[in-house]
Amino acid sequence: MRGRLLRGGSCKAKTVLLGGLKDHLKTIRQSRRIVFIGCGTSYNAALAARPILEELSGIPVTMEIASDLLDRQGPIYREDTAVFVSQSGETADTLSALEYALENGALCVGITNTVDSAIARNTHCGVHLNAGAEIGVASTKAYTSQIVVMAMLALAIGGDTISNQARREAIIDGVFELPNKVREVLKLDEMMKDLAQELIAHQSLLVFGRGYNYATSLEGALKVKEVALMHSEGILAGEMKHGPLALVDETLPTFVIATRDACFSKQQSVIQQLRARKGRLIVMCSKGDAASVCPGGSCRVIEVPQLEDCLQPVVNIIPLQLLAYHLTVLRGFNVDQPRNLAKSVTTQ
Ligand code: G6P
Repeated sequence: MRGRLLRGGSCKAKTVLLGGLKDHLKTIRQSRRIVFIGCGTSYNAALAARPILEELSGIPVTMEIASDLLDRQGPIYREDTAVFVSQSGETADTLSALEYALENGALCVGITNTVDSAIARNTHCGVHLNAGAEIGVASTKAYTSQIVVMAMLALAIGGDTISNQARREAIIDGVFELPNKVREVLKLDEMMKDLAQELIAHQSLLVFGRGYNYATSLEGALKVKEVALMHSEGILAGEMKHGPLALVDETLPTFVIATRDACFSKQQSVIQQLRARKGRLIVMCSKGDAASVCPGGSCRVIEVPQLEDCLQPVVNIIPLQLLAYHLTVLRGFNVDQPRNLAKSVTTQ
């Protein structure tokens, strides 16, 4: 991942240089807001990156699913920076949203994995993922690469200030630690296969996340849904009491993401409440936290290596991708070409 992803940009000497953006950074920093626009997994990746972009830039960041922006004809202003996130660079809704944002005078930035795609060509500037061709319909490596690129985008927009120096350096160190952490988390493959075996006959899987890992819950559920053809729902844990808690009982598998970050204690309390309802829990936590997330050992725990919070979603999605993969194979479905779906949706 490191070589490819960092080819077009650079993190040397603890600064970030994104060649395709450097002439537009001043305009982006002066924008009134940054709007992320995408579909499917690309939308989820942008959602994972939103908190670090807000933190480092201080600019309000809003999210738009491309089709919904078009349906509403939502307001886009000349003072906006609109960031179009698309693996293929050809998704029809995202492309139409780009035309709409261009008509409304926004600065348009593309984050794509396909050189010379329509979105790469028609945006004012952008970043290429360099993740390599992604063949399977379900996006995996593009997702993780998008998050890293958007963290680098946040570093580039945020600029070098004394007050954020330590944070910036920790993130850049984290980017270089990623290949080892990813190798480590891939060792959970057998464990995820066992879990898939346990879940194979279930109808549904709930996935609770929050903060940086709200996106992980949506994306993990999307993977289970699209390839394993099992109902799954990603849920913002802060909304648990506003409906989803009614579903929880001893039969419904419930996956909670509770790795260490600013939301950790809130997730511990979510786990306690789910346990009080006899929830059938699977908890993802940071290495060494098994006893604190699941005292008494009454849930299945998946321990993952810890990383700087904004990069943690890159590691956390991998066990869920493995789970979706094994569930698909065990259920006898095609993991590369799920029924009814296309890699690139070029019609609206
Ligand atoms: C399709 C694919 C998804 C993808 C989405 C957006 O639905 O099956 O995997 O996330 O399109 O595609 P894009 O190429 O714009 O990222």
